[in-house]
Amino acid sequence: MQLENIVPWGRSKKEYMEMFDLTQEDILNKKILGCGDGPSSFNTEVDYDDGSVVSIDPLYAYSKKEIMQRIDEVAGEVIDQVRANEDHFVWKNIPDLESLEHIRIEAMMEFLMDYEDGKEEGRYVNASLPELPFEEGSFDLALSSHFLFLYSEHMDEAFHKEGIDEMLRVAKEVRIFPLLTLTNERSPHIDTVIRHLQAQGCHTEIVRTGYEFQKGANEMLKITRA
Ligand SMILES: C[S@@+](CC[C@H](N)C(=O)[O-])C[C@H]1O[C@@H](n2cnc3c(N)ncnc32)[C@H](O)[C@@H]1O
Repeated sequence: MQLENIVPWGRSKKEYMEMFDLTQEDILNKKILGCGDGPSSFNTEVDYDDGSVVSIDPLYAYSKKEIMQRIDEVAGEVIDQVRANEDHFVWKNIPDLESLEHIRIEAMMEFLMDYEDGKEEGRYVNASLPELPFEEGSFDLALSSHFLFLYSEHMDEAFHKEGIDEMLRVAKEVRIFPLLTLTNERSPHIDTVIRHLQAQGCHTEIVRTGYEFQKGANEMLKITRA
């Protein structure tokens, strides 16, 4: 994937915990895989806590300097887009645009400060769904924040099925947030993906979460392996 096609934008550990209904005990005891974590500070902050997390993203093909430059290029555009669509968001936990920019930039700076060490330690791996370079059952939990379902217009049903099957190959449980697309509509792939997973004997559950920033995006899909 070319860097000019990636819009690096990252959330914090607090947001991940709310989106995925994670406890600090989960963070300390589970081996976690983050798929498409980009420049989020989730990995960095879990590592500070001595938890175990590996993140994969095609963004990690690039150097710290290149990612930093790309963040500089796109941050203003992303904020302008949110400003133009302010009524698509719930301004509660994040009260306004200024706070949004501050929270996101802070998370991405934390990521950048940790990126080179984390790459050396194997915590940031350049890989892309639907293929994961890990042995079967390597993780307790695999997460997708703001990647699967959100980009349903760009990635078809087959990609979603293959990607989730692959996450379930390497982890016992998968959690995906949100279930809406970029245009705030329920992803057209959800029902077929759920039927596909249930046909393999997986247990699926749509769980309401305490996190809602994109209006209506307050549910995650939780899948456990057969
Ligand atoms: C909107 S960002 C979400 C970042 C982070 N998960 C968060 O919630 O803050 C989507 C991420 O998906 C990554 N991505 C794109 N194609 C991917 C693929 N095939 N497999 C895994 N990640 C991918 C992008 O590079 C980007 O970092």
